[in-house]
Amino acid sequence: VTIFVPRDAAALAVGADKVAAAIEKEIAARGVDARIVRNGSRGMLWLEPLVEVRADHGRIAYGPVRPSDVASLFDAGFLEGGAHPLCHGQTHDIPFYASQTRLTFSRCGVTDPLSLDDYRQYRGLTGLEKAISMAPAEIVKEVTDSGLRGRGGAGFPTGIKWKTVMDAAGPQKYIVCNADEGDSATFADRMIMEGDPFVLIEGMAIAGIATGATKGYVYIRSEYPHAIAVMDEAVRIARQEKILGASVLGSAYAFDMEVRSGAGAYVCGEETSLLNSLEGRRGIVRAKPPLPALQGFLGRPTVVNNVMSLASVPVILDRGAGFYRDFGMGRSRGTIPIQIAGNVKHGGLYEVAFGLTLGEIVEKIGGGTASGRPVKAVQVGGPLGAYFPVSMFDTPFDYEAFAARDGLIGHAGITVFDDTVDMLKQARFAMEFCAIESCGKCTPCRIGSTRGVETADKIARGIEPEKNKVLLADLCNTMKFGSLCALGGFTPYPVMSAMTHFPEDFSPAPVVEAAE
Ligand code: NAI
Ligand code: SF4
Repeated sequence: VTIFVPRDAAALAVGADKVAAAIEKEIAARGVDARIVRNGSRGMLWLEPLVEVRADHGRIAYGPVRPSDVASLFDAGFLEGGAHPLCHGQTHDIPFYASQTRLTFSRCGVTDPLSLDDYRQYRGLTGLEKAISMAPAEIVKEVTDSGLRGRGGAGFPTGIKWKTVMDAAGPQKYIVCNADEGDSATFADRMIMEGDPFVLIEGMAIAGIATGATKGYVYIRSEYPHAIAVMDEAVRIARQEKILGASVLGSAYAFDMEVRSGAGAYVCGEETSLLNSLEGRRGIVRAKPPLPALQGFLGRPTVVNNVMSLASVPVILDRGAGFYRDFGMGRSRGTIPIQIAGNVKHGGLYEVAFGLTLGEIVEKIGGGTASGRPVKAVQVGGPLGAYFPVSMFDTPFDYEAFAARDGLIGHAGITVFDDTVDMLKQARFAMEFCAIESCGKCTPCRIGSTRGVETADKIARGIEPEKNKVLLADLCNTMKFGSLCALGGFTPYPVMSAMTHFPEDFSPAPVVEAAE
């Protein structure tokens, strides 16, 4: 019997290692024939640690399992998929899971992340095998035709970026994977690196072959030690199995890669800052142009792609551009792994074609707030994303639809807040976050964020609130149009959306100073 206990950091954080140890002990004590596989997460975080058993009729899910539940699970015959209060039936039938379209995350939580046999068994490497039989321009065309857009947040067409690098002349080109996933409420990059690392390696190798880059780097934030460990091991295995190296899968193409870790700066998720950090320099933003596609790592043509963009490439090569493009709406093609977090009942990762409305995601998929109170606001796109009120729940999850309403989908993380949230405090938090994380290179961001905190404080204290609201809006305008990168340039989104949609929170009663 095979028992699955996730090794994903989100599961570890709620005791998965202790649960695995308790199961191990019980197996020994009862002398049963069973083994534990440490899989990735299925993404249903409210059920973690989610333990699964492979029974005759499929994989049966139990969760959230605590070490003290383990003996009772064995007593209930869970090795045969027996009934128990923690049993959810077949994992595939749990509504949150059953209603997804898992293309990028098809293997995550299903396989042993470091088993190449598992990887191959679930269509792994078929995309790379196709790629090595194609000309680079054909691969680039396939990715362009799929409609894949940069999943890091900006939504720039991946195929066009690759073409720029493919066409650039240079003795050495690079693939750099941005795994500095810094946005609040986001964990898709981490989940796939911990749960299906070979898909990222495969995507990077395909990118290398397509653009003529022979060397790749995955830049992972230091806050992700488990992802770093899994990726390191997966790269070692891929080299040993000749997936990476001088002859990729026995072809004439060469591609190798290594894992690098950051030192904990949000701004190092910005591509030029990341490149500086990767080169061993201070992580400050470089002016664009030149684009990294032309002068990136060490001044050479470089593809800088987010983990999700690269991890989506194998399925596109495997199933074809048309298959992928058929999902989605408008110019947002394919699927998007939405990360649902904050004050929400069913938090987790939900991969689906673009086009669901924000309301469906929060109310139907997420199940509303965990507190049971009414939803007041949802922040979409991380700390630099806009706050949407319930009245805008009809917005479809699509790059253009969000932009048309002064928002962004960013890296597709959403944070839910109930009616106890104070939006003026949230606006202040956005400015404070920017002040702390600013690289300091340009004035609107470096100085503006600190002035923003002060101005929000004045409004909160009832000091000339009308004048200070005008000032705050003016400051946002300066930051939006005068900042060098998205950190200073996008901080106005949460601030302005909070002011626009929740004006009542910006008119607190003036504080009456007590007389001496
Ligand atoms: P951008 O719009 O400047 O660039 C997007 C990408 O396209 C870059 O890689 C750029 O080099 C490339 N590009 C642009 N024109 C090109 C051309 N002609 N040929 C080839 N490549 C070209 O946006 P930026 O500043 O890279 O990213 C901003 C986004 O980052 C925001 O939308 C935000 O949502 C997101 N973000 C994501 C975070 C995360 O944790 N994933 C954290 C913070 C921000
Ligand atoms: Fe640095 Fe902020 Fe300017 Fe970006 S906007 S370059 S983080 S100072």
